[in-house]
Amino acid sequence: MSSVVVLISGRGSNLQALIDAGIPVTAVISNVAGAGGLAIAARHGIPTLVVKHGDFPTREAFEKVLAAEVDRFAPTLVAHAGFMRIVTAGYVERYAGRMLNVHPSLLPSFTGLRTHERALAAGVKVHGCSVHFVTPELDSGPIVIQAAVPVLPGDTVEKLAARVLRQEHVVYARAVKWFLEVRLVVANGAVSVKGNDAQFVFDASP
Ligand code: GRF
Repeated sequence: MSSVVVLISGRGSNLQALIDAGIPVTAVISNVAGAGGLAIAARHGIPTLVVKHGDFPTREAFEKVLAAEVDRFAPTLVAHAGFMRIVTAGYVERYAGRMLNVHPSLLPSFTGLRTHERALAAGVKVHGCSVHFVTPELDSGPIVIQAAVPVLPGDTVEKLAARVLRQEHVVYARAVKWFLEVRLVVANGAVSVKGNDAQFVFDASP
């Protein structure tokens, strides 16, 4: 039986989308106590854990405990869903090829934080989100699926973020399903899907 451990830091709307899509989430781990996603998990009877990064002297010490907790559930996939920690190469290596992240930009544009603000400042007309395998370099692993949305006149960070978030929920669930169905193929850093499902979504609605 396949299973997914979801790592979060906040609200948990992507977690909710995975649950709603029927993804077998067996545990939710947060590095922030009181993260909204913990309550979502609890409502669905999913075990939750908090491993606070601030309790540890180094990134490695934090990740050692985090990985021990993740491994207790022996997940098929580790899904970062709004997990706001930069992870070390050692941690990434442990879950190589079975760790996904959702990022709120059309990678490789706008890696890192404040993506919507930076997209507006750059004046781009198309923005979006990406689901990618996690590799040691931040937000740079092989891209599984992307969704594009328009940047509209009068957009604020909040409006744009909401438009992108709707698509995050669509593409993250789709990517995780593909992974669990063993349909993702990575070759030379590019991901294809057995059966040729659409790896690109464009939603023009405001
Ligand atoms: C999402 O936009 C995700 O892409 C980003 O942080 C946000 C988390 O939202 N890294 P949620 O906690 O899933 O609602």
